[in-house]
Amino acid sequence: MSNKSNINVKVQQPQKQQIKLSFSAGNVKLKFAVMSGKGGVGKSLITASLAVGFALRGLKVGVLDADIYGPTIPKLLGLVGSPLYYDDKRDLIIPTVGPLGIKVVSIDFLLPSENSAVIWRGALVTKAIEDFLSKVDWGDLDVMMIDLPPGTGDAPLTIAQALSGQLTGSIIVSAPGDVSGRIVKKAIDFSRKVKVPVIGVIENMCCFTCPDTGKTYYLFGEPEGKRIAEEANVPFLGEIPLDSRVSEANNAGIPFLLKYPDIEASKKLMTVVDSLIGRFKDELSKQTKREIRLMKLPGEEESPSTGNEEGDN
Ligand SMILES: Nc1ncnc2c1ncn2[C@@H]1O[C@H](COP(=O)(O)OP(=O)(O)OP(=O)(O)O)[C@@H](O)[C@H]1O
Ligand SMILES: [Mg+2]
Repeated sequence: MSNKSNINVKVQQPQKQQIKLSFSAGNVKLKFAVMSGKGGVGKSLITASLAVGFALRGLKVGVLDADIYGPTIPKLLGLVGSPLYYDDKRDLIIPTVGPLGIKVVSIDFLLPSENSAVIWRGALVTKAIEDFLSKVDWGDLDVMMIDLPPGTGDAPLTIAQALSGQLTGSIIVSAPGDVSGRIVKKAIDFSRKVKVPVIGVIENMCCFTCPDTGKTYYLFGEPEGKRIAEEANVPFLGEIPLDSRVSEANNAGIPFLLKYPDIEASKKLMTVVDSLIGRFKDELSKQTKREIRLMKLPGEEESPSTGNEEGDN
């Protein structure tokens, strides 16, 4: 008879490799990662729409689609099938330029077709994100929006850990309902654990306003985002109603803010944009220290001269 206490089982903990990435190309004033506790709450749509909103206010905006497994930013900004160029002299990827001059980088631009799936392991995903951050000619940007993979599992964890310390903070998107209420708390906790400050919570699909009567219906019960945000001591940024024109426009590749600027969803979205601009006005008003590279004529030797064209205050 075997004695259980003699059995020596050694469980080896998998080694978690944490990689630190850095934004090397360009100068970005604000970097917001958009997160959610679960999929399908409208995270990508909010990421793309905030980018459009900032650009509508005259800011220089970039979007990094860090949802390697489910990239949808190109679709939402009407950029499906666009190429991603690579400048081999400078070893830099050139972002695709979307509506209002928004610079976009997404793995989707590199896939053979819209229906191709990305089947990669964590290390490759990290490598792709590393390239997307450090090897992209982002130039000088006021705001970069980063669409993280949904949930609080391994994929967002790998990316959030790699980015932690370099982000201005996270914007958490929630949708109403009891289940998602618990899930948004998880997302807040996740952000805090990966040391990314929580900028606030946006409740998407909060309600439906009947276009005929103007009456608002809370189809999924009273929205909880505000209460949850207050309980967790993080700002509530606002709520965006459910509107078929939102998905109709964006799914056709035209940002709803541009196609339907007067609908409630657009007004609410712009309120969030303006509140963020107000909150980060000091960072945004900092002028960009640019490296000036003088163009050389053929035959002349390349010698970069750096200067501070616009001042640095
Ligand atoms: N406020 C809204 N009104 C109408 N449709 C919306 C709204 N928000 C999102 N949608 C639609 O819901 C669908 C899911 O949105 P989206 O792809 O942004 O979600 P996601 O959280 O990024 O999903 P995933 O977890 O798959 O990445 C899209 O078709 C989008 O157009
Ligand atoms: Mg998405």
